[in-house]
Amino acid sequence: MHEPLQRDYVEVSTASYQRSLESHRRWRLCLWIGLGSTVIVCSILLTLLIVGSKQPRLEFSTTEVGNTPLLSLSFPIKERSHQRGRSNFTLRPEMVYESMAEAREEFKSRKALEEQLFHQQVNRTEQTASSYHQQVTTLSPEMRNISDSAVLAETSVRLLLEKEQIPIEELQSVDASPLLKEWVHCSVTPVKKNCRPGDKFRTLDGTCNNLHAPEKGATLQPFRRILPPVYDDGYSSPRTKSVLGKDQFLLSAREVSRRFTDNAEPVAIETKLSMLFLTWGQFLDHDMTNTGSSKGENGSAITCCGQRKQHPECFPIQVDKTDPFYADKGVHCLDFVRSAPAPQCRINGREQFNQASAYIDGSMIYATTRLEADIRLRAHINGNMRGRLYQDGRWMLPISAEPKDGCNKDELIKQSRYCFKAGDVRVNEQIGLTAMHTVWMREHNRIANELADLNKHWDDTRIYEETRRIVIAQLQHISYNEFVPLLIGEKLAEHLKLRPLASDYDSSYNKEVDAGISNEFSTAAYRFGHSMLQGLVELYGAQGRNVDYMQFTRILFNPFALWDFGKLDAVVRGNAQQCPRKLDTSFSTQVTNHLFQPEKSHHGFDLFALNIQRGRDHGLAPYSQWRELCNLSPVNDWPGLEKEMRASSFVVIKQIYQDVKDIDLYVGILAENPLPDGILGPVGSCIIADQFLRSKIGDRFWYETGDPAIRFTSDQLKEIRKTTLARVLCDNGDAMDAIQLKSMEIVSESNPRKRCAGDDIPRMDLSSWEDGFFSLSV
Ligand code: HEM
Repeated sequence: MHEPLQRDYVEVSTASYQRSLESHRRWRLCLWIGLGSTVIVCSILLTLLIVGSKQPRLEFSTTEVGNTPLLSLSFPIKERSHQRGRSNFTLRPEMVYESMAEAREEFKSRKALEEQLFHQQVNRTEQTASSYHQQVTTLSPEMRNISDSAVLAETSVRLLLEKEQIPIEELQSVDASPLLKEWVHCSVTPVKKNCRPGDKFRTLDGTCNNLHAPEKGATLQPFRRILPPVYDDGYSSPRTKSVLGKDQFLLSAREVSRRFTDNAEPVAIETKLSMLFLTWGQFLDHDMTNTGSSKGENGSAITCCGQRKQHPECFPIQVDKTDPFYADKGVHCLDFVRSAPAPQCRINGREQFNQASAYIDGSMIYATTRLEADIRLRAHINGNMRGRLYQDGRWMLPISAEPKDGCNKDELIKQSRYCFKAGDVRVNEQIGLTAMHTVWMREHNRIANELADLNKHWDDTRIYEETRRIVIAQLQHISYNEFVPLLIGEKLAEHLKLRPLASDYDSSYNKEVDAGISNEFSTAAYRFGHSMLQGLVELYGAQGRNVDYMQFTRILFNPFALWDFGKLDAVVRGNAQQCPRKLDTSFSTQVTNHLFQPEKSHHGFDLFALNIQRGRDHGLAPYSQWRELCNLSPVNDWPGLEKEMRASSFVVIKQIYQDVKDIDLYVGILAENPLPDGILGPVGSCIIADQFLRSKIGDRFWYETGDPAIRFTSDQLKEIRKTTLARVLCDNGDAMDAIQLKSMEIVSESNPRKRCAGDDIPRMDLSSWEDGFFSLSV
């Protein structure tokens, strides 16, 4: 810039002088403009900074928005209960008598209807999308009677409220004990649990984990509720109405799902993760949650669509006449049965119960009852789990020999190919999950056989229990070392101290923390994985070559390929090499149109719609209510919501919901902008982080505990901390050759495939389990 000016003074031609003067002037003008605009930009920035310091949330970029408020939120989150008012209402004995008498009559008619429906269906044996769906929402026989009692109690409350024309809050604010005494489940004195504090092995059902409240986190307990439920009638009937008023209804769950599918952008891929992340997510879910839907006579499935008289627990999903997929196939309704209600001894909104034990305790491998665990799943030799030794020398899971179990197929039984049995009934749901179950049954037996060699004097039960304890520790280690940080982001995981320690014992156990699963976790947030499922599933041959593809719907309830030598490895390798879809509101049509589609049919179920409907069935509080609870800016209007959501999801949400306060929790969670280092947005991460924190600090048997009565020795703990999913898959595949060390992440330069043979993937050494093993560090 300086040089031309100087030249102007040396060269004396007038014209050039004039020109140079002109250019000088222009240059000065530019300088002033430049300086002026810098001053303007600086003052704008300064103003923004001052305003921003007063309203910090407005100034974070969209990615940072979610993270900072979550880090200053106090975890575990305190549950909010309904505000109770005062009331002039008096509960008189005759009111109790009448409501109970009428409730019993209603209950009788319900049972008669169940009988009638049962006889109509008794000869129906074909497998349908609905029958498959019912198999993954089974109700345990123990729960059927108990949930009947809950139905009776709920009916008596409804009748009383209707008759007295009062809202539930009035009944909640008076002494309701005369009514509660009439409820069978409240009149029996609970058997006092005799917990043995020094016992180092967990119970199967999770009782006695918390010595002060032995039922906490145990099976068959109601899910925890973080926010009070929102039911249409205030206590039980599903949420179907808009906040705008009585006659304004929410759009059908299918319609919500369809609008997102119609508007879907090109499929986005989660390029960092592998499908093993998802399979692990599902496997772990089946350890922690299992919601059962109501059943009919003899535990039979209830059919809702096409019935002249519907069962009271029916809540079918309406399909619009204009539905571009279902309408021309004559499908106007998708079967949906409400989750069975949990018995409670207080006047409260409907709650649902968890049939799994909440703790990460391998219940999907070992089952939760003695009958299942000891009679059906244990081999009673060398502490082994039962398996089926196949002709080629491989151990397979025990078979489900009942031909009409809803999974087996006659033509395959003839070839000795059966579906499988494990600690959780959903084992056959998808082939990747069945493979994972097989691997862990084999891992149990691998460890048990080594322990038996090391300790010849241990009996079968001792070996079984010691092995189970190690396997549970491995499950916890993999979950918190490999899975959780990818799910909620490294930052939040570090902040909540969820990452396993590198050495030493962990002292975070807190008996006040309830490790029970929240309804919002199981019914909304943790279902995130459904949006990441791929429509085409990849299977890989050895050395990661020869890829084969299967349609997603063909891997469901179709575990038979695992009987072929090497197919398990192909499934695992496929899982390790394929990336999932990105978590968002767009689903594969395999999931929204073809879920559980039987072979000869052209349509199946819609999992997105099922999740939305389940959320409404459970009365989950809508998305907007979660913002404040998770320390986030409230969303009271559309512009307020827009900056929190992905643009493409927001456009559809605005068309679907009449009011911003109507948005289903599940939909809101999928639509949120993700945290910078996680895959979920702030509300999803908030609910999931809270649960994983509780599952750790509320678990007395947490594998890193230093409690002298139950801890591992420091040598043993050091070995357990070497566990990786990669090593478990290597050791228990059919003949696995290689896999990347961080198997839930995709292969990359920093995460290359490693050979299973050799020491590139660390191994656990079990010698410190030998009785009398002595080490200076013990
Ligand atoms: C092939 C894969 C999968 C299939 C076919 C599948 C299917 C289903 C079905 C049919 C339900 C019951 C829906 C209802 O009626 O409420 C369900 C529930 C659920 N799924 Fe999945 N799912 C799959 C993978 C996953 C993954 C990857 C995750 C999470 C990472 C997940 C998390 C859940 C959760 C938390 C529930 C509720 C469980 C309960 O409380 O009983 N699922 N799934």
